[in-house]
Amino acid sequence: MSNSDSRQAGLFAATKALAAGELVGMPTETVYGLAGDAANGQAIARIFAAKGRPRFNPLIVHLGSIEEAQKIVVFSASARRLAEAFWPGPLSLVLPKRRLARIAELVTAGLETVAVRVPAHPVALDLIGAFGGPVAAPSANRSGHVSPTTATHVAAEFGDAVACILDAGQCRVGLESTIVGFAGDEAVLLRSGGITRQAVEEVLGRRLASSDEPLKVTAPGMLASHYAPKSSVRLRATQVRPGEALISFGAVLPDNAGAAVATINLSPSGDLAEAAANLFSALRAVDEKAPTIAVMPIPDEGLGEAINDRLKRAAAPR
Ligand code: TXA
Ligand code: MG
Repeated sequence: MSNSDSRQAGLFAATKALAAGELVGMPTETVYGLAGDAANGQAIARIFAAKGRPRFNPLIVHLGSIEEAQKIVVFSASARRLAEAFWPGPLSLVLPKRRLARIAELVTAGLETVAVRVPAHPVALDLIGAFGGPVAAPSANRSGHVSPTTATHVAAEFGDAVACILDAGQCRVGLESTIVGFAGDEAVLLRSGGITRQAVEEVLGRRLASSDEPLKVTAPGMLASHYAPKSSVRLRATQVRPGEALISFGAVLPDNAGAAVATINLSPSGDLAEAAANLFSALRAVDEKAPTIAVMPIPDEGLGEAINDRLKRAAAPR
């Protein structure tokens, strides 16, 4: 079979699996998703069971276009501006659900809002198009674990729980989507991610409220301990302590970096986009090589805000 024939065969199998209420490992530009038919309550229940996810955690619904999203949710003027600026791309919008939207109750965990996004990945868009309906997909990791940025990660997390995994190599962004919700007229950053706060604020022409300010909506991906490797994580490390693994950043390493039992550099040139893309696979690569992973300081600007958010949760007491 040619490459394109085997891609077609994979897509066909995945589409059939979704229609049968089974789960598919779906590549996106952010991380791999564990995808199921958003209209099929049983498929969604399988996602929750496979992830071991607390039931109250709602899922993101993936669509092919703004027009398809409009059939499910109601856009305010600001929401529409953000969608036009960033879709397809790593931005999820939490918007009021239409009364007649064919979305299983479990997807929203009973909320009256739905998180929607159009992913910027040809394979995801092909799958959504071939399936012909909204696809719900959380990140394809067990609840609380590190998110998957390769098909191998998905297989390691789920093995038999998925009907198939569409392998499209490594995810370009490597961090989940930025989630923006709305409290009345005010836009609120619910989760930092692949689109920077500054980029969103520029399109809105005003500041985003942050999720640690009082909120009507909260994103459970904001649980204190999340994205956690099995080893413990020590942040802002400028020295390696005996027995530690090291995740470094930039060209200037701790002077005792050689003492680390395992080491990986997120971006030797100090590029935050490259570091974001490598973050989750780096955590997996050094996980369980040492009781503790020391992580060098990462600048808190641009994509650094989302990287530091994930690292803080990975390091949180469990
Ligand atoms: O990049 C991404 O967003 C990836 C890829 C697969 O698209 N998906 C992802 O999904 O990260 P997940 O389930 O791991 O995270 C979804 C987050 C959760 O924190 C959830 O609580 C929040 O979205 N969320 C979903 N629906 C919501 C709603 N109606 N209101 C508030 N938060 C919501
Ligand atoms: Mg997740």
